[in-house]
Amino acid sequence: MQLEGKNVLITGGTRGIGKCMIQELIKGGVSKIAVIARDKENLKKLSQEFEGVKFLKITGDVANIEVLREAVARIEDKWGHLDILINNAGIVSAGPLEDIQDEDVYDQVAINFTAVLLLTKYCIPLLKSAEEGAILNISSGLGLIGMPFYSVYGSTKAAIRQFSDSMRRELAPFNISVTCAFPTATDTDMMQKFKGRKMDSPEFVAESSIQGMMNKEIQVIFGGEERLKENRLNFEAPAELDMLVAQNYEQRKTASLDHKAV
Ligand SMILES: NC(=O)c1ccc[n+]([C@@H]2O[C@H](COP(=O)([O-])OP(=O)(O)OC[C@H]3O[C@@H](n4cnc5c(N)ncnc54)[C@H](OP(=O)(O)O)[C@@H]3O)[C@@H](O)[C@H]2O)c1
Repeated sequence: MQLEGKNVLITGGTRGIGKCMIQELIKGGVSKIAVIARDKENLKKLSQEFEGVKFLKITGDVANIEVLREAVARIEDKWGHLDILINNAGIVSAGPLEDIQDEDVYDQVAINFTAVLLLTKYCIPLLKSAEEGAILNISSGLGLIGMPFYSVYGSTKAAIRQFSDSMRRELAPFNISVTCAFPTATDTDMMQKFKGRKMDSPEFVAESSIQGMMNKEIQVIFGGEERLKENRLNFEAPAELDMLVAQNYEQRKTASLDHKAV
């Protein structure tokens, strides 16, 4: 797939990985981009930073069904069709399950998962009107392996993986590809309160994810050979991975305690 002249909708394109993906899209020749995010000021800044790009700015929360319906109605009015949908917006609230606030459980499911189902549902007719459509879903390495203290976040991200598989098979007859990206720790606002290991840059994650989408790759998995090995172990011998995880249980717990970006 080529990017030149494509119409794109991205959620959460105002910061972090999403903003870097916008940069990549523009580099590739995209000039019509719809963005949904909550902070109006950050949305305004996009037009100042990327002159010559026609942004359709939708201020709102993806957890609000009316925001999603309105966004898709505006795209239909303005553009008639959509070539690329990028489901990127996400939040995290980590820690032992019994300490996670009920509201944070609901919000993670609503923003990271339910919003992706509904927005994709609303976009399908517009994607079918494109010559060649693409969906890029941003999951997480924690959606491949269920780690302690990320039970809610990881479950929403695993659901994105399953959803991507279903949609890829369901939309195949309509020339719409579905790519799912699984970043590991990436240096963005989301990770400011994470006291963990070294991270990927959002530029790298954005470039590889967009490239994966253009190449119609099914999955883009970050974290190198070590992560692939862990994924295999998790599938083939989960009890062995349990023992490895148990070795630094307290360290993992401490690192997760303040990890909240909502
Ligand atoms: N950073 C990592 O280590 C990492 C690792 C694996 C996967 N991921 C995934 O990658 C994606 C991007 O993460 P990031 O690190 O770039 O996050 P980020 O820097 O915190 O940026 C999040 C973006 O999503 C928007 N957003 C958040 N909640 C929203 C809501 N309810 N409605 C509309 N927009 C919302 C934010 O804008 P507003 O605040 O203005 O709404 C912002 O543009 C997420 O799905 C995340 O789960 C990140």
